[in-house]
Amino acid sequence: MTQDLFDDEVQSAALPLGPGAVVLRRFARPDEAALQDAVRQVIEQAPLRHMVTPGGFRMSVAMTNCGDLGWVTDLTGYRYDPHDPESGNPWPRLPDVFRRLASEAASQGGFDGFVPDACLINRYEPGTRLSLHQDRNERDFSQPIVSVSLGISAVFLFGGPKRSDKARRVPLDHGDVVVWGGPARLHYHGVLPLKEGTHLFWDGCRINLTFRKAG
Ligand code: SIN
Ligand code: FE2
Repeated sequence: MTQDLFDDEVQSAALPLGPGAVVLRRFARPDEAALQDAVRQVIEQAPLRHMVTPGGFRMSVAMTNCGDLGWVTDLTGYRYDPHDPESGNPWPRLPDVFRRLASEAASQGGFDGFVPDACLINRYEPGTRLSLHQDRNERDFSQPIVSVSLGISAVFLFGGPKRSDKARRVPLDHGDVVVWGGPARLHYHGVLPLKEGTHLFWDGCRINLTFRKAG
């Protein structure tokens, strides 16, 4: 009884990060089993891989995509591609549970009518990080970013419109969803090097799903 009450409270907790940005604590937890199945199915068709930055560095975070468009980086630059460059096939379709979760989270964050066409799947092993960057390869900046954290915890950095703006450190746990758009759409963000952890969702790793309307 007490436990249920506690869970409900945590589930509905929304932590504002500033105008246009919010963390929805544990929002994805009710869907964790379906999300795990869906991630497994995508990875079977389009395996996780370490892409190379335009500067020639191998990314420590392993990535793949599903949806009409997938975010890729190689020596020629960053782009959205309808095909997986490794196989030449279209990316796996966006699982229904992904589409529904992303659109419900966006609504909770104040962005109704969000229909993602791209989902980047990131796998972080302990020690890996994602340096501060803006998401700016998408066509329409009126559409938000929805980012779902699964598995072991991480510290998310959420800054401002300039790289030099002070970034807030936001601990993200399994099931937390961050939504940013509107005045926060082009804010710099990143992930600090992951600490070792254990979580049953993905064997000691963190999985992040980033939903975007890219095309
Ligand atoms: C990203 O910015 O693409 C991912 C952020 C995260 O892993 O939380
Ligand atoms: Fe990003």
